Amino acid sequence: MPAVVLIGAQWGDEGKGKATDLLGSRVDYVVKFNGGNNAGHTVVIGNEKYALHLLPSGILTPGVTPVIANGVVVDVEVLFHELNALLARGLDVSKLLISANAHVITQYHRTMDKVTERFLGRRNIGTTGRGIGPAYADKINRVGIRIQDIFDENILRQKVEGALDQKNHLLVKVYNRRAIAASEIVNELLGYAERLRPMVADTGLILNQALDAGKTVLFEGGQATMLDVDHGTYPFVTSSNATSGGAATGSGVAPNRFDRVIGIVKAYTTRVGSGPFPTELFDEWGEFLRANGFEFGTTTGRPRRCGWYDAPIARYSARVNGITDFVLTKLDVLTGLEKIQVCVAYDIDGVRVDEVPVNQTDFHHAVPIYQEFPGWTEDITGATSFDELPKNARDYVLAVEAMSGSRISAIGVGPGRDAIVVRHDLLG
Ligand code: GDP
Ligand code: IMO
Ligand code: MG
Repeated sequence: MPAVVLIGAQWGDEGKGKATDLLGSRVDYVVKFNGGNNAGHTVVIGNEKYALHLLPSGILTPGVTPVIANGVVVDVEVLFHELNALLARGLDVSKLLISANAHVITQYHRTMDKVTERFLGRRNIGTTGRGIGPAYADKINRVGIRIQDIFDENILRQKVEGALDQKNHLLVKVYNRRAIAASEIVNELLGYAERLRPMVADTGLILNQALDAGKTVLFEGGQATMLDVDHGTYPFVTSSNATSGGAATGSGVAPNRFDRVIGIVKAYTTRVGSGPFPTELFDEWGEFLRANGFEFGTTTGRPRRCGWYDAPIARYSARVNGITDFVLTKLDVLTGLEKIQVCVAYDIDGVRVDEVPVNQTDFHHAVPIYQEFPGWTEDITGATSFDELPKNARDYVLAVEAMSGSRISAIGVGPGRDAIVVRHDLLG
């Protein structure tokens, strides 16, 4: 089972970091293929808690080669900060590889992210402000800076000047900000060259050779299906392909090499930032989920919007990604609820709709049709097998599985590395 993709099936923060860490000891490479330091993965190992943003979660596992592939946008300053923090905690980070073709997030991308959000006012996206959208926009506009450009001063200067040409007009004339000097950016990036050089590689070639040699490669998605720029709730999305297809374009490994797609899905739903969210709760139950699930962003600290499980979204994710196995996380957070609701379909302007509607306006109007399940009060955080879960918890999992378009192969019952119930081997 050599090439496995792991992606978020909702709006992010499903527990991808923990799931990647769980599989870490059995894989040789963990590849980040999309996004950048907008991601926030919390991994709890014993009494130690790690918050990763740009680095793949596999960096925490000795023996794993972590890879930042071509589909990622890299803020090099953030990269060095994160590496330093892990080094200070005694971790070996020397194996990290970065694609020469990955794009670079610079100061002007961060600035553009913030000023455009402010300009949008009430219509803002609620981005993480890390420069992700503007860096991907430059990539598509063919004025991006790639990691390899940092090692060629002439090319770098030309490209930065080209990229700033239009932006400075915008910054000064539209946004009333100061112009950014190309030399300032060039000098900053050149200053990173020496430390960066040994990490930079042809990662597409290395990953294909690793697969040829029978190694196991895990592709760890950032963000999630409903934040995907093509398949999510556009325009309230991130600027990359967070779905499984992104693993191919974002890494240089062809689609026919992937063997399995693992979808991470929470036992309820959360979302950070703006955009439609049919099952969102504004009452005490939403507050219950936020408090019990510690639903505050790993990257920005913002309280996450919380709501019930949405089965049409899980089915949509199963279809778009080709999910072979779900990991249902945070089941323990539902403990103590007398009744649990699951959205089984939507009422859209008086009509029952069973699937995620293609029309964005319809999705904004979608009112969930719920099925109610009885809750449980027993503490499940120590459960090690499915049979140990209370009957109502088992029934909830089985009902959700029947509605979600693929089997649930593992169930998260707590934040810790071992707090997971496995029903089917995720790599077997
Ligand atoms: P990611 O972005 O998908 O990697 O997820 P985050 O790390 O942003 O958010 C998931 C949070 O839930 C983290 O704080 C995890 O430690 C925590 N977590 C993961 N799985 C479980 C689980 O099964 N139960 C509980 N209670 N917490 C979990
Ligand atoms: P992980 O990997 C949850 C959201 C932002 C905003 C939108 C666009 O931890 O699941 P961006 O800065 O990417 O341009 O913001 O996407 N967003 C996330 N929400 N989890 C994430 O990552 C996210 N990364 C971006 O809140 O609504
Ligand atoms: Mg997160």
